[in-house]
Amino acid sequence: MQQAILLTGISSGIGLTTAHYLLQRGLTVYGSLRSGDAEAGLTDHPAFTALQFDVTDRAAIRAAVQRIVADGKQLVGVVNNAGIAISGPVETLSEAQYRKQFDVNVFGLIAVSQETLPQLHAARAAGLSPRIVNIGSVSGYLTSPFTTLYSASKFAVEALTDGMRRELSPFGIDVISVAPGPVKTPIWAKGREQTEAYQGTRYEGVLEKLGPYTKAAEADGVEPELVAAAIYRALTDPSPKPNVLVMKKSWLVKLLRLTPKRFQDKFFLKRLAENRRY
Ligand SMILES: NC(=O)c1ccc[n+]([C@@H]2O[C@H](COP(=O)([O-])OP(=O)(O)OC[C@H]3O[C@@H](n4cnc5c(N)ncnc54)[C@H](OP(=O)(O)O)[C@@H]3O)[C@@H](O)[C@H]2O)c1
Repeated sequence: MQQAILLTGISSGIGLTTAHYLLQRGLTVYGSLRSGDAEAGLTDHPAFTALQFDVTDRAAIRAAVQRIVADGKQLVGVVNNAGIAISGPVETLSEAQYRKQFDVNVFGLIAVSQETLPQLHAARAAGLSPRIVNIGSVSGYLTSPFTTLYSASKFAVEALTDGMRRELSPFGIDVISVAPGPVKTPIWAKGREQTEAYQGTRYEGVLEKLGPYTKAAEADGVEPELVAAAIYRALTDPSPKPNVLVMKKSWLVKLLRLTPKRFQDKFFLKRLAENRRY
């Protein structure tokens, strides 16, 4: 039976680049998007199939998994990439915004994992090495101000990754997180649109700084191919690392995590004042 990977969120950014990267290396890819058509370069590829679902719609996820089974493919890998980044001060976020952040990045990831796990158990029974690869973030390692909800969702992704790996490794299923630092993708522009909504609030002054701060982070970001390569390794290496941080100066993040929280506070506020990130 031919083996296949399910990759969520292939309409742009890391998902789109990863779909190409995996296809170029001979993998069969089912890529999900919420609406419209996948990029022509993908739909033209014989090993690519587009699936339409929102990760918050469990019935649609289930139908998509059934489609893979009906195609006679054995699912061996799931990449939970779909995600959104809601920014702004916690004080001013609406209930709809903070719930949406978790609905997509956390509960969506759980739903896709639950719906695909029966297929991954079947893959193991067939002697294969099935994996779930969760796309986390450096924001799941450290919390920057004004992307706090996003960070909370990505800390949850790290916890889910570690916990699920410990639950599933006895069944031969590996669960890995690939956590990028800043990457040049459309997610930044989407985030900027949201912060404009906070003008006129008591946070206006800091939000004026946040614009240049996030622009500097995006400009210094890595190309999505670097993340795609890490995802490919997570799916195919015989002994993959369980948590991979993909960014320039990842050593600084690992070091900063070990410092006292008050020191971290000063670090972030100084960087924000200077329009710099890590
Ligand atoms: N770019 C970065 O700097 C960075 C850094 C660390 C981690 N990440 C993570 O990398 C992942 C991909 O982000 P990206 O930077 O490539 O951003 P992106 O270009 O905005 O791509 C996000 C993808 O997720 C999809 N998506 C959003 N909401 C969805 C939903 N409810 N159901 C299904 N799909 C949904 C989007 O589809 P639509 O087009 O339909 O909205 C899109 O395909 C995210 O998990 C993000 O948190 C990104």
